[in-house]
Amino acid sequence: MRQTRKDRWRRVFLLAHSLMTGLAVFSGMSDGSFVHPQIALAQSEFSLELPLGLDREHLLIPQDNPLTHEKVTLGKFLFFDTRLSANETIACASCHKPALAFTDGQPVSTGIHRQQGGRSAPAAINRAFSTVQFWDGRAATLEEQALGPFVNPVEHGFATHDQLVAKVQSIAGYRPLFQRAFGSPLITKDRIGQAIASFQRTLLSGNSPYDQFTQGGREDALSARAKKGMQLFFGKGRCFLCHTGPNFTDERFHNLGVGWDGDHIDLGRYTVTKAPKDIGAFKTPTLREIARTAPYMHDGRFATLEQVVEFYNQGGIQNPFLDPLIQPLNLSQSEQADLVEFLWSLNGEGWEVEPPTQFPQ
Ligand code: HEC
Ligand code: HEC
Repeated sequence: MRQTRKDRWRRVFLLAHSLMTGLAVFSGMSDGSFVHPQIALAQSEFSLELPLGLDREHLLIPQDNPLTHEKVTLGKFLFFDTRLSANETIACASCHKPALAFTDGQPVSTGIHRQQGGRSAPAAINRAFSTVQFWDGRAATLEEQALGPFVNPVEHGFATHDQLVAKVQSIAGYRPLFQRAFGSPLITKDRIGQAIASFQRTLLSGNSPYDQFTQGGREDALSARAKKGMQLFFGKGRCFLCHTGPNFTDERFHNLGVGWDGDHIDLGRYTVTKAPKDIGAFKTPTLREIARTAPYMHDGRFATLEQVVEFYNQGGIQNPFLDPLIQPLNLSQSEQADLVEFLWSLNGEGWEVEPPTQFPQ
């Protein structure tokens, strides 16, 4: 009983305290460009407008990290801020560029000190529709994913997350943004992850010609070729067996043989599960915006969609762990071109954002 009353008083105190710091922060920042007066104190729900073709049923927003305007605003700054790397040159946006549907156009990415990793940067869009993250699914949530690159020696290059937190703490202008997003100015690794994940969930892709044709009643949204390609995609081409649902992925892992023809085999999902069935298996990527996000596959080996389709047509690359769903397709040249035409119709909208022009100081 006494415990409860004490708790209640503590809550009242904390509330009053955070309101007061909120006010102090608000008045102190009234000249700053980051604070919008109406939302300086309360956190406001960010309601995601889904473009045509995406549906709420598949949306994944964890209960302990509800989407708010304040977190999205903070997460956007953190995503674009190059100061958050060991030598202040690399931001998430260095490899996930808004102009390229949040990939980098490189076979494999170049991070800090111009070092290269072994994998291609996926188009970081429609992440709110994905369970596990990364080509091998090693991050169980987007919150967890968002923290990985900071301590990757070839990405942001911090030795520990404490160094990242210290760097954010050293920039005074971030404090009021954490205050508004989380109710107190405390800066922690978890809060950084939650804010960046929130921003990433706002990067969507839908309303493509394919969506307009299938759901928008626009018969003319697809060319005759693309319509034939669509039939192949969902039929003889077998693509839909893995690239399925609104985001064109089953969220599962498959071995297509990519990498088995070179001198370096990436074991993929196996490194996470240690299950033999996962040897050389990678996560089925979304195909939305695919014509904008070359080069393709986890090692960025294909420069064009024509090459990708040719690869599938010949039945992937033989290896002891090849997924049985991958089989030679016997598509004619003209059918392959139709399929490529269809893939172009998956370019949509919902991911275009303007990078910040000034950052918290
Ligand atoms: C040096 C380039 C580089 C930087 C910097 C970088 N990434 Fe990535 N990102 C990659 C690569 C490469 C992968 C694929 C790695 C893998 O799957 O093993 C990836 C994977 C991802 C994924 C998974 C997408 C999916 O489809 O599973 C997300 C989301 C992402 N990055 C967001 C971020 C965020 C947020 C930051 C900043 C904290 C960041 N990245 C920094 C290159 C980079
Ligand atoms: C057995 C499941 C499966 C089938 C069937 C399948 N895919 Fe894939 N797709 C994947 C996986 C897994 C990857 C990533 C493989 C890797 O990088 O090792 C991928 C990658 C891709 C990529 C590159 C994506 C990127 O971001 O780099 C394209 C394009 C693609 N597939 C199109 C197709 C088309 C077109 C078809 C039908 C002809 C098809 N896929 C059939 C599972 C499949």
